[in-house]
Amino acid sequence: METVIKVCRFDPGKDTVPTFQEFAMDLEGTQTVLDALLLAWQQDPSLSFRRSCRSAICGSCAVRINGRPALACQTLMQQASAHGGPIIVEPLPHFRQLKDLVVDLEPFFDSLKAVVPWLVLRDDYDGRMTPEVARRLEGPATCILCGICDAEFDETGHVKPAALVKALRLAQDPRDAAGIHRLRLLQTPPEILKLFLKELPEKCPKGITIDASKCL
Ligand code: SF4
Ligand code: FES
Repeated sequence: METVIKVCRFDPGKDTVPTFQEFAMDLEGTQTVLDALLLAWQQDPSLSFRRSCRSAICGSCAVRINGRPALACQTLMQQASAHGGPIIVEPLPHFRQLKDLVVDLEPFFDSLKAVVPWLVLRDDYDGRMTPEVARRLEGPATCILCGICDAEFDETGHVKPAALVKALRLAQDPRDAAGIHRLRLLQTPPEILKLFLKELPEKCPKGITIDASKCL
C-alpha cells in the first residue's frame, strides 16, 4: 500500500523547535511502523531512532504513533493507517527529546534504581514457591522496560509506573526481604496506584496485569 509517514525531526545542534519530515513509501499492511522507519532511514540516513530486536522484546523502539505511545515493531501498518491520514511518528512524551525519535531515558532508569530493582534474598527463605505465587509474579516479570507506561501516565512527574511494576512484583516475591518497603520509597498515593493498576493492561504493550491486593 502507498503510505506517507510524518516523522518528528529535531537536531539540538541546529534546530530550535521540532518539525516534521514526510516520507512516501510502498509497504504491505502486515509490515510494521518500524519497517516504515527503516525505509525512511534509507531515504534519509540522518534520521535517528532506537531499535534492536524487531520482536517486541527489547523495548527500545517505543515511540508515539498517531498520538499514542506504542512499540513501532509491534504496530502493523494497517493498524496505524486505519484513520486514513498520514501516519505520524513522534518521540515518547514526558521525556527530553535528544534527537528526532530518541529521548533521554536517564530519569526512567533512575526511577527504577530508586526501588532497588533486584531481589534482596531473605536469610530464612526455604527455596519453595507455590504455583499460585509463581503465576502471580509471572506477568509483571515480562516487563521489557520500554517506558511506554511512564509516557502514558507520568503527566505530573510524580508517578513512576515502570518502577511501580517492578516494586509491586518484588513486594510479592516470597524470596524477598525488602517487600512493601519499596512501595513506600515511591510515595505514590493509593488512589493513583489503583488507577494505574486498572489502566496498565490496556496501555502496556505486553498487557501486564498485577494483582496487588496482597500489598495494598
Ligand atoms: S510495564 Fe509495560 S509499558 Fe511499562 S515499561 Fe514494562 S512493558 Fe513497558
Ligand atoms: S525493536 Fe525491540 S521492542 Fe521493538
